[in-house]
Amino acid sequence: MAEINTQKLDSYLRLIEISRDLASTLDLDELLDRIVKAAADFSDAEAASILLYDNTARQLYFQVATNIDEPTRRGLVVPLEGSIAGWIVTNRKPLRIDDVNKDSRHFGDIAQSTGFSIKSILGIPLITKNKVVGVLETLNKKNGEFTPEDENLLSVLGAQAAVAIENARLFQQSDLISEFVHELRTPLASLSTATYLLLRPEISREQHEQIVSSIHSETLRLNTLTSSFLDLARLESGRVQFRKSTFDIMDLLYECKDVMASKAEEDNIQIRVIDPEGGSPLEADRDKIKQVILNLLSNALKYNRRDGSVILKITSEKEKMIISVQDTGLGIPKDALGQIFDKFYRVKENESTATGTGLGLAICKKIIQGHGGVIEIKSKPGIGTNILISLPLQSKFIQN
Ligand SMILES: Nc1ncnc2c1ncn2[C@@H]1O[C@H](COP(=O)(O)OP(=O)(O)O)[C@@H](O)[C@H]1O
Ligand SMILES: [Mg+2]
Repeated sequence: MAEINTQKLDSYLRLIEISRDLASTLDLDELLDRIVKAAADFSDAEAASILLYDNTARQLYFQVATNIDEPTRRGLVVPLEGSIAGWIVTNRKPLRIDDVNKDSRHFGDIAQSTGFSIKSILGIPLITKNKVVGVLETLNKKNGEFTPEDENLLSVLGAQAAVAIENARLFQQSDLISEFVHELRTPLASLSTATYLLLRPEISREQHEQIVSSIHSETLRLNTLTSSFLDLARLESGRVQFRKSTFDIMDLLYECKDVMASKAEEDNIQIRVIDPEGGSPLEADRDKIKQVILNLLSNALKYNRRDGSVILKITSEKEKMIISVQDTGLGIPKDALGQIFDKFYRVKENESTATGTGLGLAICKKIIQGHGGVIEIKSKPGIGTNILISLPLQSKFIQN
């Protein structure tokens, strides 16, 4: 009778338990976290990481690792050529390497920037429905070298992980899409009413013009809604690549002020940019930070009062920069502050003041988080709102 290998049996029992756990997680971030932890544990490795593969863009994006918790690395592109993960995707095969430093496929950037030195790697492709969704890697076997048995176990875990990732992604998309469709109903209903009215013989020329103008503004709003929605969907899927450069934040603030100048004039609102002492270089994705400032400035104008003001201010601290956007507007009721960064959320009291989509702040938050920063809001109804962004002076994400 064959002897039962109890250690092996133990591993398989634990695998079953983990698979169950993975299948019940629909939150993608949480899921990836659990997968890397289980993988490191199973292979008796110092660390583990996951890269997700985008089939359309044919690119690999670094996602999570047990030894790195900085969000700035999320979404970093790892080249398909010249990386171990790339080899695994292209060949759809596991790979075991005892010393990566002797392997030309090793892509050292992510590891180097964290100070974590990699010696051995066991990597497997995450495949479901014949599609590669990513790569799971375990790094540095604690004792000795990775074995074929480690490879087998990790492959079983990987197969479960791939299905769970695909499910979480589909769930995320369907959730977002159903909210989007819901948001489309109101503008579509008003467009339908408007066109119906246009066809009525009894409406006057003046009414006709009014209706056409409302159709025009409603379609503009639908346009904004669609592009904001796509922006957010891309950010949420972790497929946005941040492009790092060093720039002067003051130049950027003045640029944003110029963009919004005519809008500010309409309500006689003054925009002031307050210079800090000395220069203010920031290392970040300039276009994305500009998108954030324009969003906040647009809110500060939209929800302001006539003859009000907006102040854009920078304060530099030791290793971070605080950007503040302060207005003299309507403010936000206390009980609404907790939901203000939720997608599609708009404050009831302010809704009639200005048109909007409720996506602006959700996008801002995603971008700031992607830089390893924090966005906060302080507000007093009737007095004004202050948005504070805190960003590390040097974003640590890597450029290929
Ligand atoms: N500066 C501000 N002053 C007052 N209310 C604000 C301000 N910024 C945002 N809000 C409130 O937060 C909601 C969400 O903002 P946002 O996500 O930018 O969506 P939108 O501006 O498209 O409505 C707005 O609808 C508004 O009610
Ligand atoms: Mg807005």
